[in-house]
Amino acid sequence: MLPEHKQILVVDDEPNLRRVLSAQLERDGYDVHTAEDGEQALGILKEHHIDLVITDLRMPRLDGMELLRRAQKLDAELPVVMITAHGTVDNAVEALKTGAFDYLTKPFDQVEVRTIVAKALRTRDLSATEASRPFHEIPTEGARYGIIGQSPSILDLYAVLDRVADTPTTVLITGESGTGKELVARALHESSSRHDKSFIKVNCAAIPKDLMESELFGYERGAFTGAVGSKPGRFELASGGTLFLDEIGSIPVEMQVKLLRALQESEFERVGGVRTIRVDVRLIAATNSDLKKEIAQGGFREDLYYRLNVVPIRLPSLRERASDIPLLVSHFIQKFNTRLKKDIDGVEPAALARLTGYPWPGNIRELENVIERAVLFCDGDELHLSDLPAEVRGAAPPAFPLGFSESALSSTPFPPPSAEASSSSPSDGLKEQVKAAMSRLERELIVRALEQTSGNVTHAARLLKISRKGLQLKMKELGLREPGDRGEV
Ligand SMILES: Nc1ncnc2c1ncn2[C@@H]1O[C@H](COP(=O)(O)OP(=O)(O)OP(=O)(O)O)[C@@H](O)[C@H]1O
Ligand SMILES: [Mg+2]
Repeated sequence: MLPEHKQILVVDDEPNLRRVLSAQLERDGYDVHTAEDGEQALGILKEHHIDLVITDLRMPRLDGMELLRRAQKLDAELPVVMITAHGTVDNAVEALKTGAFDYLTKPFDQVEVRTIVAKALRTRDLSATEASRPFHEIPTEGARYGIIGQSPSILDLYAVLDRVADTPTTVLITGESGTGKELVARALHESSSRHDKSFIKVNCAAIPKDLMESELFGYERGAFTGAVGSKPGRFELASGGTLFLDEIGSIPVEMQVKLLRALQESEFERVGGVRTIRVDVRLIAATNSDLKKEIAQGGFREDLYYRLNVVPIRLPSLRERASDIPLLVSHFIQKFNTRLKKDIDGVEPAALARLTGYPWPGNIRELENVIERAVLFCDGDELHLSDLPAEVRGAAPPAFPLGFSESALSSTPFPPPSAEASSSSPSDGLKEQVKAAMSRLERELIVRALEQTSGNVTHAARLLKISRKGLQLKMKELGLREPGDRGEV
């Protein structure tokens, strides 16, 4: 069942900001209340059920910090997100220490607003249901079409799916192994008006070369030795629905001509048949090989490629959207909690850092398998570093969300930082979130300072008004490498 709309209270004395923020939140499907200052906000909090407060810090009458304190007295689990002006980080730090969930910097970045709001609401949901029911359901925020993600590349994917899902257009899905090609193909079918007809999948790599034609187009009695009856092929079975040709790169060249004709004319004959059969089929193809290269080498026909590539969808590798990893981890923990009758409700920060930093050559499938195994082996209510396979445990913690590219800061494996020893007691979700937001803030500050000083640690320390030694310690703690360690230059 869909939950009713979440109620968000936006507090700011600037009418323009209230308007812009409310408009975005409403577009995202939330109900928005607004207040001009802390006093008014408290009045609303007493009268309405509010799920999340987003408030400015500086306001007349009652300011953001005071609102935060009083709101917590009314409802200890209510997440409060602070709005801070760019560059006024001291305030953000104080707010986080007082218990703010997170902070947003002006001017707003739409994606950041969306991510933080979704995260805050999810945490609230979890703390509200924790006692009676651990999380079983797939989070609705951060998932559309059954596809989990909030990174820019996945938001782009949603936008493409919105456009093409309910059309008869041919789609070519490319991406490394395990990136979700089949998931996307099924999502396209499920959200089209063909969803009550068949979705027929053909794995072109698994069908022997000389059976391919009869598999796709069917055969008539006596077409070849052993053809005692007649049989429809996959094209006919998919009639009215969707035909998914997986691993299209391994289809033999001779078959490509026949496939092209079937696609262009929507008609074909069964093997050994004379009757022309017409079908209405939506075709989706997928491949993890580089078809352009195969064309150059003569393994794939260019005309077929262009016929298939009407709408190309390239799925990013998990490395390219590592910011989605925490969300995916939580999704898979829930999935395997249910399946394996476990009750795990979190991941130790050090373990999450490795999961986010590991390069995932097998992409989401590999992540899914790692979490399944970890959930199975986990004895407590939190996944620990020791529940992860050795190759993941050895991964360098990531260096984002940052201006630096990940590789610039973490090209060599970093010795496991002290985080391992630090978090033994499973503290509640909100505290974890606050801790995470604090580290995010520290990282951001450090990286910004390093960027401004072109990587000079001494100068960066001076900017941050801390000692060089202190900065180095902090960087180590956060898993940030000194720019000098890069091994380049
Ligand atoms: N964004 C996602 N959200 C949730 N689950 C996902 C997502 N992407 C992939 N998965 C899951 O990961 C697994 C692998 O996905 P899928 O089989 O679609 O990958 P693929 O690209 O077809 O891989 P291959 O090239 O190896 O066939 C599946 O269990 C799928 O449900
Ligand atoms: Mg597949």
